Amino acid sequence: MPILCEPGPTAVEMLSGIDGEVRRADNLAAAAKLLDGDPNETLVIIGPRAVTGDALAFAASLRLARPAVGVIMARRDIDVTLLMRALQSGVRDVVQVGDDAAMAAACRRSYEVTRRMLAPPTDDESAQGQIVTVFGAKGGCGKTALAVNIGVALAMQGVGRVCVVDLDLAFGDVAISVQLDPLRTILDALPMAGHLDESGAASLLTRYQPGLEMLLAPVTPGDAEKIPPRLVGELLAVLRRMYDFVIIDTPAQLSEHVLTAMDVSSHLVLLTTPDVTALKSLRVSLEMLDMLSYPRQIRSIVVNRADSKVGLSAEQVRKVVRSNIAAHIPSSRAVPISVNKGVPLVLASPAHPVSQSVLKFVQQHLLTSPIRRPAEGRSRGRRRVA
Ligand SMILES: Nc1ncnc2c1ncn2[C@@H]1O[C@H](COP(=O)(O)OP(=O)(O)O)[C@@H](O)[C@H]1O
Ligand SMILES: [Mg+2]
Repeated sequence: MPILCEPGPTAVEMLSGIDGEVRRADNLAAAAKLLDGDPNETLVIIGPRAVTGDALAFAASLRLARPAVGVIMARRDIDVTLLMRALQSGVRDVVQVGDDAAMAAACRRSYEVTRRMLAPPTDDESAQGQIVTVFGAKGGCGKTALAVNIGVALAMQGVGRVCVVDLDLAFGDVAISVQLDPLRTILDALPMAGHLDESGAASLLTRYQPGLEMLLAPVTPGDAEKIPPRLVGELLAVLRRMYDFVIIDTPAQLSEHVLTAMDVSSHLVLLTTPDVTALKSLRVSLEMLDMLSYPRQIRSIVVNRADSKVGLSAEQVRKVVRSNIAAHIPSSRAVPISVNKGVPLVLASPAHPVSQSVLKFVQQHLLTSPIRRPAEGRSRGRRRVA
């Protein structure tokens, strides 16, 4: 039964957006007391009466003490600064007072995040993290920007440990886009091939922030060829035991390395921009994925720079790819600026429309969908075709 921290008539106004019964607390201290008395509680909704700074401090301390408890804030006025501070304090959502549909959706999402955090592993498979491959057959369509921002967004949502893997082995630019020194890269895995374990894999990683690590691409393009696709499979098998989410950035070709990653992915994010050449590449890729028997239900199509002035409309895009679009990410100069600064936009400005669309995609498609496992025997099917 969620705790609603709000005295008086506003609380009554807010109740219609919250499913089922609610326990009311007049202030944050009372809410903290209710929480202390109930170790099973998983949701606190903080109404507009609580002073913003106090509410954020409450959320930040709860994130450490009881990370499974979600905090949703309801405010009369929501602005960019508030959203940014809220997300950084670990608040899962900020909702306008009176927007019942948004409140209901925020509660559902928070329960789902908690459920995933608390779900006991029932067998070996479910103890493993999810692998998300971000692919787009056209260079420059935004794969790296999206993969890095998805990684940051997942880490911000407090879903556990996240690893971003740069599988653009020849021209990887994850390191440069977040200003990490590629002192260790995938290339250093070569001597461990065939007997890679968790401590070996850990020695290859570069920490970006607590809970978010990166496996960087080799610095010299020629080194890409030294890495056998088999090693990628071995690495991912180890990383998925160590991380809740492994996000893979890719080159613009369905190389054997990329297909190896797709074989073990629970989610494929297929990226395009709304122009004819990128869409043609996406269509070809989708047909290839069909041919290689990658299930359609693990794919999400994302249109980047969706509002581009010269671009095709959402409907035209949908027709060409013959599939629903999971997310539209707007075009903004803030993206290249953030890359040049080396700080992903979702981290620097979580309230920016680009960040918001990434966060929404993550919440709606990566966090709330049931865990999907790669189909049995898919890789065998693929190799027969290849
Ligand atoms: N939504 C966007 N709005 C504006 N520029 C973008 C957007 N997404 C990506 N970019 C820019 O486009 C360029 C290519 O993006 P990048 O992620 O490197 O593509 P890829 O990895 O697919 O080659 C970069 O300069 C990046 O900053
Ligand atoms: Mg790239």
